[in-house]
Amino acid sequence: MSARVAVLISGSGTNLQALLDASADGHPADIVLVVSDRHKARGLQRARDRGIPTAVLLKRDFESRRAYDRALVDVLREHQVSWVALAGFMRLVTSVLLDAFPMHVINIHPALLPAFPGLHAQRQALEHGTKITGATVHFVDDGTDTGPIIVQSAVPVLATDDLEALQQRILRTEHQIYPLALRWAVEGRLQVEGRQVSVKGAPPTFLWSGD
Ligand code: GRF
Repeated sequence: MSARVAVLISGSGTNLQALLDASADGHPADIVLVVSDRHKARGLQRARDRGIPTAVLLKRDFESRRAYDRALVDVLREHQVSWVALAGFMRLVTSVLLDAFPMHVINIHPALLPAFPGLHAQRQALEHGTKITGATVHFVDDGTDTGPIIVQSAVPVLATDDLEALQQRILRTEHQIYPLALRWAVEGRLQVEGRQVSVKGAPPTFLWSGD
């Protein structure tokens, strides 16, 4: 059985592409809607190429973040969405969205949380001199990248790395773990107790991607 999923984006949408590719390959998430806060988000074209409905909600058309999220919830409900996957969506969401989809909103972040939350996580890791960083898929709560962690994947930071090289290495591993986490989510296999997330029938949720 598949579950109806919306993916929220702001930019290039390579994670969206990974989810779309998985979905075309028997993944139980059915991507039924892509929402962007930018007309020019390249990910919108990726959705259109697959014939998936898109919606653009611009910040300037709403008086507050809560008003924005009310419109967002309306469009998600119109499309009978059950899970919401943030994939490079550059807005903080409010309790309006989180209360409408309790424990059904997930996000991917390009660092090993709780290290380097917020913007420019890859640059933060590089400038801090960390030797290992990675990616995290987590439930969204009302903080910034603070929700319970579903899966993490680690990658090395090489002495030769510039920002672009590190971003690309992290993205490659993001594209592995996001479809995995979304599969567990829509299959109802995630069990959450406080901050602890376990996955029914799955090995420990840690990957090392030392390519
Ligand atoms: C990814 O690095 C993701 O972790 C972060 O924003 C970036 C989005 O990239 N939240 P893309 O739009 O999926 O290519």
